[in-house]
Amino acid sequence: MGKGFYISKTVGVVGIVLGAGALVTIIALSVVYSQEKSKNNENEVKPTDAVTSAPTTAPSNEPWDQWRLPQTLSPQTYNVTLWPRLEPDPTGLYIFTGMSSVVFRCVEKTNLILIHSNKLNMTKQPTLMALGSKPAPIIESIVMHTKTQYMAIHLKDELTAGESYELYTEFVGELADDLGGFYRSEYNENGVKKVVATTQMQATDARKAFPCFDEPAMKAVFHITLYHDPATVALSNVDSTLVTRTTFAATEVMSTYLLAFIVSDFGFIEQNIDKLQIRIFARQEAINAGQGEYALIVTGPILKFFERYYNVSYPLPKSDQIALPDFNAGAMENWGLITYRETALLYDKEISSNGNKERIVTVIAHELAHQWFGNLVTLRWWNDLWLNEGFASYVEYLGAAEAEPDWNVKDLIVLNDVHRVFAIDALASSHPLSSKEEEIQKPEQISEVFDTISYSKGASVLRMLSDFLTEAVFTQGLQTYLNYFEFNNTVYTDLWHHLQLAVDRNNNSLPKTVQEIMDRWVLQMGFPVVTIDTTTGQITQEHFLLDPETKPDRPSEFNYEWFVPISWTKNETTQPLYWLLNKNGDADEWVLANINVTGYYRVNYDNDNWQRLLNSIPVINRAQLIDDAFNLAKAGIIETTLALRTTLFLNSETEYMPWEAALDNLDYFYLMFDRTEVYGHMQKYVGRQVKDLFDYFTRLTNWQDVPQGHTDHIKANLRSTVYCSAIAAGGEEEWNFAWEQFQNATIASEKDKLRAAMACATEPWLLNRYLKYTLDPEKIRKQDATSTIINIASNVVGQPLAWDFVRANWEYIFKQYGGGSFSFSNLINGVTKRFSTQFELQQLIQFKDDNAHIGFGSGSLAIQQSIERTNANIKWIEKNQKAVLDWFKNPS
Ligand SMILES: *[C@@H]1O[C@H](CO)[C@@H](O)[C@H](O)[C@H]1NC(C)=O
Ligand SMILES: *[C@@H]1O[C@H](CO)[C@@H](O)[C@H](O)[C@H]1NC(C)=O
Ligand SMILES: *[C@@H]1O[C@H](CO)[C@@H](O)[C@H](O)[C@H]1NC(C)=O
Ligand SMILES: *[C@@H]1O[C@H](CO)[C@@H](O)[C@H](O)[C@H]1NC(C)=O
Ligand SMILES: *[C@@H]1O[C@H](CO)[C@@H](O)[C@H](O)[C@H]1NC(C)=O
Ligand SMILES: *[C@@H]1O[C@H](CO)[C@@H](O)[C@H](O)[C@H]1NC(C)=O
Ligand SMILES: *[C@@H]1O[C@H](CO)[C@@H](O)[C@H](O)[C@H]1NC(C)=O
Ligand SMILES: *[C@@H]1O[C@H](CO)[C@@H](O)[C@H](O)[C@H]1NC(C)=O
Ligand SMILES: [Zn+2]
Repeated sequence: MGKGFYISKTVGVVGIVLGAGALVTIIALSVVYSQEKSKNNENEVKPTDAVTSAPTTAPSNEPWDQWRLPQTLSPQTYNVTLWPRLEPDPTGLYIFTGMSSVVFRCVEKTNLILIHSNKLNMTKQPTLMALGSKPAPIIESIVMHTKTQYMAIHLKDELTAGESYELYTEFVGELADDLGGFYRSEYNENGVKKVVATTQMQATDARKAFPCFDEPAMKAVFHITLYHDPATVALSNVDSTLVTRTTFAATEVMSTYLLAFIVSDFGFIEQNIDKLQIRIFARQEAINAGQGEYALIVTGPILKFFERYYNVSYPLPKSDQIALPDFNAGAMENWGLITYRETALLYDKEISSNGNKERIVTVIAHELAHQWFGNLVTLRWWNDLWLNEGFASYVEYLGAAEAEPDWNVKDLIVLNDVHRVFAIDALASSHPLSSKEEEIQKPEQISEVFDTISYSKGASVLRMLSDFLTEAVFTQGLQTYLNYFEFNNTVYTDLWHHLQLAVDRNNNSLPKTVQEIMDRWVLQMGFPVVTIDTTTGQITQEHFLLDPETKPDRPSEFNYEWFVPISWTKNETTQPLYWLLNKNGDADEWVLANINVTGYYRVNYDNDNWQRLLNSIPVINRAQLIDDAFNLAKAGIIETTLALRTTLFLNSETEYMPWEAALDNLDYFYLMFDRTEVYGHMQKYVGRQVKDLFDYFTRLTNWQDVPQGHTDHIKANLRSTVYCSAIAAGGEEEWNFAWEQFQNATIASEKDKLRAAMACATEPWLLNRYLKYTLDPEKIRKQDATSTIINIASNVVGQPLAWDFVRANWEYIFKQYGGGSFSFSNLINGVTKRFSTQFELQQLIQFKDDNAHIGFGSGSLAIQQSIERTNANIKWIEKNQKAVLDWFKNPS
């Protein structure tokens, strides 16, 4: 799955910086700068009464009370026919009906067929047929287990090991607007309401579309047939023969979570590359406006790149990508039919910004990368999700760089993934990449592993691995892994094994095996800070914790020591890799370490070396030094004023990365101090620092021509900033105008910008009204509800309102949006990130206690992490407020 929704950094920071109008331009400038850089009717359905529901009893050791399927049956092929109704029935319900037969082999004799089925009502007594010579046992009873989401079919006699059987079911389900399983998305086109039937199976919702053995290792071949109106198009993973009943060819052997089927009246554009058909689908209006063109242009080169990178041809005859008005995640890699949120696929030349374009190309690359890694070869169980998602999150930059070679896209992983996940992985309440299979069982536990650690830490450590093995060796191992396991399932150590074979084949000299090195990064949480003392040549490592007074929540068999590959330079010359294998090591003449931040660790130096680096910071590492310094200061390892001093050189900085790193870190100061005296002095300082940059851009671009207020000529890259300023400066009239524009907008990225800008309002009642809109899907789509609340919370005025709102409506929010994987942890982090007082800490703990009976779903860990972060903030402010104030008064 692609990462969840995307909170524009610009908007977050703009909300805070607004006070002094001039500073808004910083952000605008960094955005403009990144542009500069880029140059370079049998309708009635009656339930059958042969199927009963299990009474609610205490869980037992019976198989239907276990979350994992028994290994007794193995599915081979499914024939699934589904008929979604795009008009409501007389009671106002949208439904779909279906028939499904599954052929499975009995591996071990059993008198129980346990198959996943969730929220489906059987409309006929299921039947069982034997495909071998012996007759099938008679069905004794059928019981639905709602909690574990099984249909249990009890047989009078046993199934015979080695024999195949066919189970046939007929059923009805609701085509709800709940963003999971087979669901409904709605939109308006030319004043007409239109309905799309679409799917999101990952992780555990295929069972909501038809009864199936819904685990990733239960791979099978699927024959899908859809009934639909002749005026609509039906799509699925594979090619089809046409007309109103669309029957698709057999799929490859694949996992249930990668299935997709869609009925819509969308338009499309297409291109063929070496017999491979590439199509982009979206609302007709969007296709006619050319919004799919950018995606179509970049898809071919990215697919070709991955074919070379993996040395495996694209496994399917076609590649469809479709943009949906309602979609919970960022995108989903369904095999051959990738689904996207509109903003992750559609691009408008006039209106969308470079940021939108960059996101589109990286999300496309991420999903295409999964077509092999994840789809062709699939991890056996969800506990290894980090390898699937971490891998795609790493190579998305490689794929995007292929499509847009002039953008320096590869550098962005440092800001978007490494720095971002450092912030979470530095908490004592973080968690290791790898979990035990038995720890990840229930759907909500599975949903919880889709987090920043899996994606961004996964990406960071794989990038480090590829770097120290060299890309040539890494890809060799990857290629044999994919070839060996195609159409099959693996565990993460299978990849290590193939990488080791490649290492050995190349006589690569590693100090330890791939597995030994990687165990330390995968099985224990956190990361080290490496301290280099240039006066003694000593080098040491320590587990980096944001709050040094905390202890890690869990013990580590490796004592929180890592095997650290250290790249370094001396006198601007790259030196051979140094391996720090213990707590301590020796080396002479260290100057600058962790070149390009390819290593997943922070670096500290002795004071003299810091001074030397500050005096002449090499370009490539400026962003990293800033980020390391600020975080070392947060953890109390160096003085905060030393960190602030890394921003002194910004007055002559014209590169995007260092500014972005500085802004990300100063953002923390704004959050902590925007309600105190420090704020004014800080504004003045940052204003001075940015002046030269400002002048530089005035010479470089005509960005100043941007008219004030809301007009149609606002330059694409500045839209967010200008909209936000206008709303902040305005009152009800301006807000209502923006709301109307939002409702009328037909370009998703434009809609998103307006939605974010409305959160910049400064009148509390406007913000409160806006918060209420998030409870009404007619006003704010469900997919956008949590990100809207977060936008409001990043506004200093909106923060306490959003927090009150979340507390008051937790139950509703949880029930409505609890399925979303990322949105919950994002929501909790978003509304609490400014917390820095005892009072706020108490409120947070109270909130946790008060809602324990409802739960926090995929946000459980986020609550714990917010508490820890608030504690750290309280201590930090106590310790630093005076020094920070003094420094901003007299920076040096
Ligand atoms: C499934 O459908 C395919 C294609 O329509 C057909 O050839 C096959 O016999 C069907 N199999 C079963 C088990 O119904
Ligand atoms: C399934 O059955 C339940 C209980 O009878 C009913 O509430 C629900 O509406 C049915 N769903 C559909 C889609 O018919
Ligand atoms: C795999 O590599 C071999 C050797 O370089 C090459 O001949 C072949 O075309 C490659 N296959 C694909 C699918 O890239
Ligand atoms: C899948 O891989 C396992 C080994 O991990 C092997 O035993 C099995 O035969 C493979 N299955 C197929 C269909 O290749
Ligand atoms: C690795 O070493 C073996 C034995 O010394 C040698 O035959 C082989 O050519 C070497 N392989 C590479 C890729 O250097
Ligand atoms: C650094 O390298 C330059 C050019 O190679 C040389 O002139 C200079 O003396 C070196 N400085 C040190 C401190 O070694
Ligand atoms: C660091 O990155 C730059 C630009 O991407 C690249 O040219 C350089 O070779 C990298 N240096 C190392 C040591 O990997
Ligand atoms: C939005 O659309 C409505 C109906 O088409 C129109 O009356 C209204 O003027 C539009 N508003 C804006 C701000 O464009
Ligand atoms: Zn993914």
